[in-house]
Amino acid sequence: MGPMEEAFRVVGGARLTGEVRVTGAKNSVLKLMAAALLARGRTTLRDVPDILDVEIMAELLRRLGCDVEHDRAESTVSIDVPDQPEHRADYDLVRRMRASICVLGPLVARCRAADVALPGGDNIGSRGLDMHVAGLTRMGATVTSEHGYLLAEAGRGLRGATIWLDFPSVGATETLVMAAVTAHGETVIDNAAREPEIIDICAMLVQMGARIGGIGTSTLVIEGVDHLEPTDHTTVPDRIVAGTWAVAAALTRGEVTVRNARAEHLEIALDKLLTAGAEVTTARDSFTVRMDRRPRSIDIVTLPYPGFPTDLQPQFIALNAIADGAALVTENLFEARFRFVHELARLGADVHTEGHHALVRGRPLLSGAPVEATDIRAGAGLVLAGLVADGITVVHEVHHIDRGYAGFVDDLRGLGADVTRIQVGG
Ligand code: EPU
Repeated sequence: MGPMEEAFRVVGGARLTGEVRVTGAKNSVLKLMAAALLARGRTTLRDVPDILDVEIMAELLRRLGCDVEHDRAESTVSIDVPDQPEHRADYDLVRRMRASICVLGPLVARCRAADVALPGGDNIGSRGLDMHVAGLTRMGATVTSEHGYLLAEAGRGLRGATIWLDFPSVGATETLVMAAVTAHGETVIDNAAREPEIIDICAMLVQMGARIGGIGTSTLVIEGVDHLEPTDHTTVPDRIVAGTWAVAAALTRGEVTVRNARAEHLEIALDKLLTAGAEVTTARDSFTVRMDRRPRSIDIVTLPYPGFPTDLQPQFIALNAIADGAALVTENLFEARFRFVHELARLGADVHTEGHHALVRGRPLLSGAPVEATDIRAGAGLVLAGLVADGITVVHEVHHIDRGYAGFVDDLRGLGADVTRIQVGG
């Protein structure tokens, strides 16, 4: 037998009820930590989720010469950035977290050079960096790739440019905004991503002294400034974790109030749950999802924000797997995101995929079995499916889930689910 590994043991059948609080968004906080590099001095981030990726990013920033303190009890990270940070992000950290690439923009801006190992990360399909590279090149950087590293250099500093993104890429928009805030002159990013996490980083940069127009639209206009000041910023709530709880409530015919959640960041997803037959009530910082019947099946097409988020696609496939009727789910962002349906099939789900479409025919009940999480969201989808499976489902490779859902097991138990973290032989 190999080394011990952690898994989740899920006993199906519970109806989730009660309240759960969501923390700051993983996909925002990692970029906010990188953005801190843009100013000398101490930046404090609040409502930071207690997940491994935050530790990896903290370690990366330390190697760049920053003093980073992560106070788990207070959910804060404070980053003291030196006058002259290092500019090399090593493979041993980047390979553990693809999001490490988000130091590329701030390092070129701040150090006029960046050597960032090419990322690995989630197994969810090829994820190019071509738009990051093309944009930085437009801004006067020379970008090459050598021995597994992306080398960017802008000896005379970055200059403003007009950049048309082929696609509203979240990562490329973030890299280019962070590069542009201290560039010489005006940068226009057209077809920019509009995710709440992009708005969050722009808001933080503005607090630091950046001049950014068009925040929340697909055209960002950035007037470069001389330098930025450190700041104190609270991370935007995690809409994907909030959406996962919403699906969990609907799927188990329960009633869950999600606190520190912004319904306006989940409009389409909550509307889909209404169509499925759920009752959704929203308040300023929370919403409640209640379901009294078997869900109706719902078609889904993933698209960049404000379209339906790819990060909720597996959870909605789990819902469709026990829904009344058949649903067509189309995945437009990450091709390999359907790999998890093979695992879902182990629970008895009836799912057929053809290219980037999946046809899900609902069944009244799934049947518990051992399955394996293939990425964060697939893992969440499998746990949800386990909640409506007859008997016991053991979800393996939960390190993926831990990367995106702090305290998932405790929260599930708090809502009445029978879920435990167990050790299994590898
Ligand atoms: N793409 C390119 N070239 C580029 C950049 C992107 O071809 O230069 C392609 C990618 O290959 C992919 C698509 O564009 O097919 C979307 O990529 P995007 O840049 O928008 O996404 P990302 O920044 O790599 C972030 C989140 C993902 C989330 C996506 C879409 C982080 C760390 N990751 O990824 O989150 O799915 O946006 O919303 O912010 C997750 O949390 O589970 C997760 C994977």
